[in-house]
Amino acid sequence: MPARPRMRTRSLALSLVLLAAGASAQLSTGANGGEGGPGASARAQPQDVPQFVTFTADDAIQSYTVEVINHFLAERRNPNGCAPKMTYFTSLSYTNYSMVTEMYVAGNEIADHTMTHAGKPNVSEINGNLRALNAFAGIPVSDIAGFRAPLLSWDGDTLRALHNASFTYDSSMTSASPANASNTDAYWPYTLDNGIANNCLEQPDICQGRLKLPGLWEIPMYSTFGESTSDIHLMDPWLEGRDADEVLGWLQQTFLQHYNGNRQPFGLYSHPIHLAINYPGVTNPDAIRNMLQTFLDWVQSHDNVWIVSNKQLLEWMRNPVTNEHIADVEGLGCGSPAVPEDENICNGIPVNMAGLLNRCDFAAFPWQTCYYCPATEPTPDDPVPSPREGDTRHTLPSDCQTAWFDPIANRCLCDSDNCAFTDETRPIGNYSTNLGGNTTGSGDSTGPVRAEATAPSKFNGGVPAAAWSGAALLVAALAAVVP
Ligand SMILES: *[C@@H]1O[C@H](CO)[C@@H](O)[C@H](O)[C@H]1NC(C)=O
Ligand SMILES: *[C@@H]1O[C@H](CO)[C@@H](O)[C@H](O)[C@H]1NC(C)=O
Ligand SMILES: *[C@@H]1O[C@H](CO)[C@@H](O)[C@H](O)[C@H]1NC(C)=O
Ligand SMILES: *[C@@H]1O[C@H](CO)[C@@H](O)[C@H](O)[C@H]1NC(C)=O
Ligand SMILES: *[C@@H]1O[C@H](CO)[C@@H](O)[C@H](O)[C@H]1NC(C)=O
Ligand SMILES: *[C@@H]1O[C@H](CO)[C@@H](O)[C@H](O)[C@H]1NC(C)=O
Ligand SMILES: [Zn+2]
Repeated sequence: MPARPRMRTRSLALSLVLLAAGASAQLSTGANGGEGGPGASARAQPQDVPQFVTFTADDAIQSYTVEVINHFLAERRNPNGCAPKMTYFTSLSYTNYSMVTEMYVAGNEIADHTMTHAGKPNVSEINGNLRALNAFAGIPVSDIAGFRAPLLSWDGDTLRALHNASFTYDSSMTSASPANASNTDAYWPYTLDNGIANNCLEQPDICQGRLKLPGLWEIPMYSTFGESTSDIHLMDPWLEGRDADEVLGWLQQTFLQHYNGNRQPFGLYSHPIHLAINYPGVTNPDAIRNMLQTFLDWVQSHDNVWIVSNKQLLEWMRNPVTNEHIADVEGLGCGSPAVPEDENICNGIPVNMAGLLNRCDFAAFPWQTCYYCPATEPTPDDPVPSPREGDTRHTLPSDCQTAWFDPIANRCLCDSDNCAFTDETRPIGNYSTNLGGNTTGSGDSTGPVRAEATAPSKFNGGVPAAAWSGAALLVAALAAVVP
């Protein structure tokens, strides 16, 4: 970590006081109290930090949606030469679980979007998604860190449920003013240690610091602006313009509000199905697809732009470094598992798993998995049903990475420190089992039981206070340079 940006005490204190005020948290305005003064020349400037761009997708993962993601990202590279990663907020109705495994093993982030796409979801919708993704897509529980509410419909109970289940972050809140406006609500991601600061008009009961959830992060969704600051577009803005060129103008102008301003992350929030080719009922998306490629090419022509998953973004927030030291951020590396190509195991890597998928023939939507097929469809109230008769495949154990596990032989191929892994359990609501347990089929009942109290402290308090203050410092530092 580089030397922390120096700044006058007054500006930091003021920014943090404002943060504590929750709704009125203002990170980007006159907290600097004037120019000059000791240390002024040593402050971090916005152009010293990366411009992060998050490409997120929501809903079911299917062939159509994977094609869309690959179309936009597969050929791109970040400044370090690694392929960009993205975050998929996954709901499970109509999801093909084997494709979730593939997305994950390729390095993308799989996040929770409830099982059945329920707005203001109950706890079973949220935690059931986690459990079913673990059992049937082989995603380690500890790697399912984020949540987005379907229809962006959430309330205080939604956030409390996330906090209870040790999620790292929510990304359901919205920012509705330009990143470079003087009273913007386009905050950098923040923890709810001091309460929520977005959507306060709609959520007066929990704003103003009334609901504090220490350690839980919020990654606001940043709007795209059209003709004026009241012409606000959030998800799939490309569906809302008169034509693709008009939307290109919106995206470019909004990107510059971030890039030339405080470098808050810029987001593209997609429902990939709307960009799918030949999907029944979807208007031909060619013009929009071309426009988005043009936009991403243009974005990547700027210096220090990184296309990242939300998880990668938070990794940087917890240990913010300047562009000069960006190579130190491990999570931004390429990190592909080096499983030998001649291994024939069902692990999410196409060359290894050819011919090994298990087909679960449910009437509503037949899906594939590397793990066992449940006797009945997973539901919020029974997210991990026991195996159908005669199906002896295993679920992912807690001590093997997805790419190295053979669910047919119940064997972990990893035999070196380089691939060693432990899926540390975390308390999930009412469940007390190790959700990543080495089970043979039958759901959580045979998993090694670990009580909530023994969950590693890493998951109990969420983000260590020091990490938060590091991020706050940097945010405050950025605040201090904007007039
Ligand atoms: C599910 O994904 C696999 C690849 O992981 C693919 O072979 C299969 O056709 C897909 N099934 C459906 C129903 O889309
Ligand atoms: C949670 O909500 C879902 C519908 O979204 C429902 O099917 C389920 O029964 C509910 N579970 C509980 C415990 O309330
Ligand atoms: C969160 O956990 C607390 C303590 O176990 C419990 O009382 C509360 O009902 C939970 N809230 C939600 C929304 O899950
Ligand atoms: C914000 O950014 C836009 C786009 O670059 C620019 O036109 C506008 O002047 C900026 N506004 C402020 C207040 O700096
Ligand atoms: C799972 O548990 C069984 C029986 O306890 C054990 O033989 C096997 O080695 C374990 N598998 C893994 C991958 O840990
Ligand atoms: C929690 O688990 C207990 C014991 O299994 C059960 O009786 C209770 O109904 C569960 N509560 C919820 C909210 O699921
Ligand atoms: Zn959705």
